[in-house]
Amino acid sequence: MATHTAPDSLASAEEDFCRRYPEYETTRALDQLRAADYARLDREGHIYLDYTGGGLYAETQVRAHQALLLSRTFGNPHSSNPTSLAMTEAVEGARRTILEFFNAAPQEYAVVFTANASGALKLVGEAYPFQPGGNYLLTFDNHNSVNGIREFARAKGATVTYAPVLPPDLRLDAAKLTALLKLGGREPKLFAYPAQSNFSGVQHELGWVARAQAQGWDVLLDAAAFAPTNRLDLAAVRPDFVSLSFYKLCGYPTGVGALIAKRSALAKLRRPWFAGGTIEVASVQGDKFYFHEGPEAFEDGTLNYLSLPAVAMGLRHLQQVGLDRIHTRVQCLTGWLLEALTALRHATGAPLVRVYGPTTTVARGGTVTFNVYGADGHFVDHRLVEQRANARQISLRTGCFCNPGGGELALGISAEELTSCFITHSRMTIDEFRRCIDDKSTGAVRVSLGLASTFADVYTFVDFARSFLNKRAAEV
Ligand SMILES: Cc1ncc(COP(=O)(O)O)c(C=O)c1O
Repeated sequence: MATHTAPDSLASAEEDFCRRYPEYETTRALDQLRAADYARLDREGHIYLDYTGGGLYAETQVRAHQALLLSRTFGNPHSSNPTSLAMTEAVEGARRTILEFFNAAPQEYAVVFTANASGALKLVGEAYPFQPGGNYLLTFDNHNSVNGIREFARAKGATVTYAPVLPPDLRLDAAKLTALLKLGGREPKLFAYPAQSNFSGVQHELGWVARAQAQGWDVLLDAAAFAPTNRLDLAAVRPDFVSLSFYKLCGYPTGVGALIAKRSALAKLRRPWFAGGTIEVASVQGDKFYFHEGPEAFEDGTLNYLSLPAVAMGLRHLQQVGLDRIHTRVQCLTGWLLEALTALRHATGAPLVRVYGPTTTVARGGTVTFNVYGADGHFVDHRLVEQRANARQISLRTGCFCNPGGGELALGISAEELTSCFITHSRMTIDEFRRCIDDKSTGAVRVSLGLASTFADVYTFVDFARSFLNKRAAEV
């Protein structure tokens, strides 16, 4: 095992962990899987803690996909020649597997293939019938690809409103959101939020979907960070639109995401253009076009078709491993990690880290974001923490993770400070931004767990965190 710690202390810490998190035993099969199907991690000595950035694939997924490609002949789908028909069948099979995975009825939901979650979000943003009198409501805590929809909404005259989240836990302000959901009238209105924050790991209540729909909102649920380690049951939670990327779920393939949408919600969208693959009929002289019925109307040009069978294989792999088992494992390891990190104190008694978001496992996932503080109480630059981690083969992520709202609230950067920074700049580099907000950290350190995480991974990370103890920030 490629850890950088004394095996004795690792073994006794794991024993203690197992006593306190007895459910962990039910996930032991994942240790065997890690040794067999993810052996490259330990062979190369990696501590991988960036599952919210990207999941890891099992060797068997890649082999099965390669075997399929080597044994069959596939052509560009959507024609009636034999190789094209074979591919069309595989593409439709992938759509069915995705719907089954999320327990979505095919009469109610359709799968639109996109390049990634951002592609799914853009499809909704550019085609949603925003108009004067209409609304786009979104939470502070959102990925930039959800924030970016506000530009489409504003360009079409809709009102854009942010629903706040409250530090230190960074959960939604339920009273404010309840009031905001009363906004708007008959014009179309879209509410967007993440099922799990890619910044803080907070799981925002799925119950907001039905509450918002009852007030006339179409709901866009960004499931990109939630779906890899939590069951999303679309027969129980029925958002109008769901965005996700498959590399986050199963590591392979990259380059494929999906918009899973209610057929009735797709019918409300008005695409700003048509493209090859999206139309039944288009005419140059007649200056007319007719979209396909269903998901194909949203798939511009040729799909990433050879990768789609690999999506189905990846999801079947997750099903075989058991999403509930993955969830339990990540929850146990996150609980221990949070306890161990928040217990670390300098000799002065000052805490080593400040976690942004909940410090227990209640309604949170396996994404833990924090800053390291020196014994002098000053934060250690997150970029420096990353450099030190890199030197130990620990893959973590630093910055704001494309979630500026979560970051600004967590780091205490006010609207006034931001406005005065932005007013003088027509363009801005990240270094200029850092100088502008002066003595505050512009980012944080994020570690995230997933399917192949082990106790040794989190233990090694906490051991690494200990190396910052009793140093002033400038001495690190
Ligand atoms: C919550 C969330 N939404 C959307 C995205 C965007 O995903 P992609 O970069 O695959 O488009 C991410 C990526 O990290 C995410 O975590």
